Amino acid sequence: MQIFHHSQSIRDALGAERLAGKRIGFVPTMGNLHQAHIELVKIAQASCDLVVVSIFVNRLQFGLNEDWDKYPRTYDADTAKLRAVNCDYLFYPEESEIYPNGMAEQTRVVVPTMTDVLCGASRPGHFEGVTTVVSKLFNIVQPDEAVFGIKDFQQLALIRRMVEDLCIPVKIVAGEIFRESDGLAMSSRNSFITEQERPRAAQLNRSLNWIATEVRAGNRGFATLEAEARQQIEAAGFRPDYINVCNSKTLEPAADDDSDITVLGAMYTSGARLIDNVSINVS
Ligand code: PAJ
Repeated sequence: MQIFHHSQSIRDALGAERLAGKRIGFVPTMGNLHQAHIELVKIAQASCDLVVVSIFVNRLQFGLNEDWDKYPRTYDADTAKLRAVNCDYLFYPEESEIYPNGMAEQTRVVVPTMTDVLCGASRPGHFEGVTTVVSKLFNIVQPDEAVFGIKDFQQLALIRRMVEDLCIPVKIVAGEIFRESDGLAMSSRNSFITEQERPRAAQLNRSLNWIATEVRAGNRGFATLEAEARQQIEAAGFRPDYINVCNSKTLEPAADDDSDITVLGAMYTSGARLIDNVSINVS
């Protein structure tokens, strides 16, 4: 695996690969890689000639009271995992490569309608940080395909919209949610769940699945279902952030006759904020 720290050097190397006719796949990450990240690499490998992974803990997408400093940085373990799966290129830039004019630089990429809802409501500025850094990374790597996990459903929807709106020539591919055996979605933030909380932490997933079962059975009382799921999460000892039944494409509250619906949720444990979602195709 070749490791690059500078935008220009990886651009030069990938330029040569592109000239040689190689199809380039890209998996952007913030490191602390777990099995779900590796699955995304395998998805990219299945349809591309070479795969680039980036590891960059993007300060711009963390709020003032969020965990940028304590976000786990596990470079040695990450590179070992990437080598084991035969990843071709790792881009591991310094902050100054991505923000050459400093963090206060003015240019931002924003998808207004989808940014302030759901996770965006409790994480002001977060998605602006995500779309800004992902567009920078796309400009550096210039991939043919980029793979994102469905676990971050809102992030995926925003990136799809950004790519459409800005005519960015990249195919966005979605990777299924990778879960622990009890249904808890894998996440770097799971390391902040305490041992006492861990057996109950899959409640978010259970409650979203419960709503999905109800909706599939024809229940359209979305507000009542959301309220009931919040109570289930509270009863398990956690604080719900939001539980929303949404139109999968627009992320607006689902209408009674919507057929493509996703139930999205977030809850707080004592040390982490966990997210999950379940999609339903109502025919
Ligand atoms: P990060 O949290 O490291 O996630 C990198 C990619 O892995 C994202 O596409 C995310 O959706 C996916 N992923 C994480 N856990 C997953 C799971 N359990 N199942 C499936 N996919 C999963 O998301 C980010 O980094 C950043 O916001 C980034 C896009 C890199 C921009 O900074």
